[in-house]
Amino acid sequence: MSNNSPIIVALDFPSAAQALELVERLEPQRCRLKVGKELFTRSGPTFVEKLVDQGYDVFLDLKFHDIPNTVAAACRAAADLGVWMVNVHAQGGRKMMEAASEALQHSSHQPLLIAVTILTSMAEDDIHEVGLGGTPAENVKRLAKLAEGSGLNGVVCSPQEVAMLRETISAEFNLVTPGIRPSWSAKGDQARITTPADATRLGSNYLVIGRPITAADEPLEALQKIEDELRG
Ligand code: C5P
Repeated sequence: MSNNSPIIVALDFPSAAQALELVERLEPQRCRLKVGKELFTRSGPTFVEKLVDQGYDVFLDLKFHDIPNTVAAACRAAADLGVWMVNVHAQGGRKMMEAASEALQHSSHQPLLIAVTILTSMAEDDIHEVGLGGTPAENVKRLAKLAEGSGLNGVVCSPQEVAMLRETISAEFNLVTPGIRPSWSAKGDQARITTPADATRLGSNYLVIGRPITAADEPLEALQKIEDELRG
């Protein structure tokens, strides 16, 4: 089912039952869904296939990071589930990313392959401690270029990094941004936030939005308000 929505709803729930309760209140033509490590570890591939069968585009956010052969095989398995987007850590290196990209090119179904550069939870001290020099921004830029050069389709990044990345990578390279808060919603534990309209204006292609939709009394209304804000 084709879908033009830039909105990816983060299904951060501890059980499939809770996630499905929300999913039933959304519509597959109006958003996409992100399944992360907690939900996948609890509910597995059957749950992902259920979402795909309901017509949803699924971003399988498992951030693969291993030797090239293993990551390629995991990406192939994700493709077989019918997911729309899958991701790997750019720090796995060129050979790993090329192997993942190559594996997907030979799959029957081709999800978008996205890289995580530097986790936004890592500050400058943290990246130095693991042996990386420079600032987080310099590392994000370098790893995004490496991901692009390795055949990937985009990176996950903070909305604050979008303008910088748009200067260095091609227009076709997708930027997927969490840390999104409409003006009317609670900030929660997100420190640096951007509104959906601002993130899009800066050049973000896909907006990962969790609690403003998942914790809303009326999730579809919250989605509608975000769509209106994006149009306006
Ligand atoms: O509820 P909220 O909108 O804050 O959810 C954001 C989603 O994006 C969560 O699934 C979170 O793990 C993810 N994420 C993030 N910041 C990053 C990377 C991923 O918030 N840097």
